[in-house]
Amino acid sequence: MKMLYLGDVVGRAGREAVTARLPKLREDWRLDFVVVNGENASHGMGLTGAHAKLFLDAGADVVTLGDHAFDQKDMLQFIETEPRIIRPLNYAKTAPGRGQGVFAARGGRKVLVAQALGRVFMNRAFDDPFSAVDATLRAHPRGGMVQAAIVDIHCEATSEKMGMGHFCDGRASLVVGSHTHVPTADAQILPGGTAFQSDAGMCGDYNSVIGMDRAEPLRRFVTGMGKGRFVPAEGEATLCGTYVETDDRTGAATRVAAVRLGGRLAEAHP
Ligand SMILES: [Fe+2]
Ligand SMILES: [Fe+2]
Repeated sequence: MKMLYLGDVVGRAGREAVTARLPKLREDWRLDFVVVNGENASHGMGLTGAHAKLFLDAGADVVTLGDHAFDQKDMLQFIETEPRIIRPLNYAKTAPGRGQGVFAARGGRKVLVAQALGRVFMNRAFDDPFSAVDATLRAHPRGGMVQAAIVDIHCEATSEKMGMGHFCDGRASLVVGSHTHVPTADAQILPGGTAFQSDAGMCGDYNSVIGMDRAEPLRRFVTGMGKGRFVPAEGEATLCGTYVETDDRTGAATRVAAVRLGGRLAEAHP
């Protein structure tokens, strides 16, 4: 299977890049399955139902969220009506929606998508992501019940992400990091056949501080005092993500590549 994961979409610039480019990418790269992380798509914080629909209409099979899952209050209800939206498994015991799902890819094949929040340097104490992901992967064996399995590990620390990659090696098809908004140069296939990249990067304007107009973050760094809200940067976005090919029989990855298209970053494609 040919699959694409797109990292955190930030604001209007990110939304426009996804809706403008994803339909053609799906065709040109003959993608069987697409996941988009939408946790910063609406004003940089959270995701509205209307913006989620934009991504699903543009060719996303699943939209994942993150620590900003419910910053847009409308998602609290919307997620209960739209099973193609996944929030972290360990967000909160009482959170609406689901942290995992099995979805249909082209040709009737089945793909497990799950998301977990890491705990290192995160602003809240979440439940253990490793046991949550372990239970999910045990219930959906790769090459058995599902043809492929994708784990989105949403956290700050590359060490924790790499730990999750190795923890899932041989069981997931792809473990991909999100949340830091900066793509890492470590896309690889781990020994057990799990594709891994510490962070896919964002779909947003890189003339910014992780997608936000740089004025307010800089003011806070330099003076220690905030004056206004963070607002997404509005320049042309780079579409950042991870491309993976898998063997349907085993669910193992056979190819992985970082993707960076448009905007300011050096281009990379499969
Ligand atoms: Fe996040
Ligand atoms: Fe994010």
